[in-house]
Amino acid sequence: MNKKSVVLGVGGYLPKKILTNEELARRVDTSDEWIVQRTGIRQRHIASEDEFTSDLAEKAARDALNNAGLSTNDIDLIIVATATPDMTFPSTASLVQQKLGITQGFAFDLQAVCSGFLFALATADNYLKTGMAKRALVIGAETFSRIIDWNDRTTCVLFGDGAGAMVIEATDVSEHGDRGVLASSLRTDGRHWKKLYVDGGVSSTGTIGHLRMQGREVFKHAVGMIFDVVEDVFEKTGFHGDDLDWFVPHQANKRIIDGAGKKLKIAPQKVVVTVDIHANTSAASVPLALAVASKDGRIKQGDLVMLEAMGGGFTWGASLIRW
Ligand code: UT7
Repeated sequence: MNKKSVVLGVGGYLPKKILTNEELARRVDTSDEWIVQRTGIRQRHIASEDEFTSDLAEKAARDALNNAGLSTNDIDLIIVATATPDMTFPSTASLVQQKLGITQGFAFDLQAVCSGFLFALATADNYLKTGMAKRALVIGAETFSRIIDWNDRTTCVLFGDGAGAMVIEATDVSEHGDRGVLASSLRTDGRHWKKLYVDGGVSSTGTIGHLRMQGREVFKHAVGMIFDVVEDVFEKTGFHGDDLDWFVPHQANKRIIDGAGKKLKIAPQKVVVTVDIHANTSAASVPLALAVASKDGRIKQGDLVMLEAMGGGFTWGASLIRW
């Protein structure tokens, strides 16, 4: 293959309504102190009743296109990573395509829960490298507020709504130096599904269901799984923790982020953290963090950036990008 995928822009969107820990403490038996100490989360954004996943995704996509200096006409592939689609079908990606006024190319959803963006990026990268598409919008978009059991203090404090997007372009290997997606690693182990799942679905209960999680069990596996995929990407590329300019992890829990960073020997100042202000936005968390760190000038062209995520399935993955 003589093509690679170069990042042209990133964008994000967060619903206006902010829900603080103090507000949650008035609804369930919790406290700002417990949430901050155990997770690092201070607030989360919540979509309004008439705001759907496709609306969040559309806004993040427009922001990314604007950041890339491109128009909707330039896109011929849209992948939306989401576990909270607007409808059972059509795909949220079809709705996003329609909202963006795009009629060329193809669009589909991908479901890998919190690792969704990593799975979508690796998928889009392969479409671009094999010549099936030229420019892709890779989006992570979620409205987890719709599947949260707001009476369950062990989960309702953890999640938020939002969307993040990235535009990547197929480029000849000889162009742009070594910029582009350098390598990815994806894993799934379905034996763990009961540790993090939604207790409803089209084919089983005919209901939407609520998120259920054995938090401690997920926590126990998270750091090791993240370490494995990141190390796999380092092995494929020959880079090490020291070479990274930025580490952009899935934003589930500050303690998991710190644990992974330490195990991978990545200096804390190179780690992008947004979990305090976004909470866990599932598939949106990594592209949202990228949008924040790129817009505030931290991530610059030429930087070496490692992305990773782990979540329901279990699924986990990592990607190394020369920005
Ligand atoms: O994005 C996908 C993956 N998801 C994750 O990565 C989440 C992974 N798990 C975690 O982040 C952590 O396990 C949690 C933040 C969910 C929980 O933290 P923990 O340190 O593992 O706490 P725990 O579940 O062991 O609970 C400790 C105590 C329990 O009380 P007892 O049994 O010790 O009396 C809980 O009932 O904290 C209690 N607790 C709470 N207390 C106040 C649980 N939730 C709350 C709460 N407020 N919201």
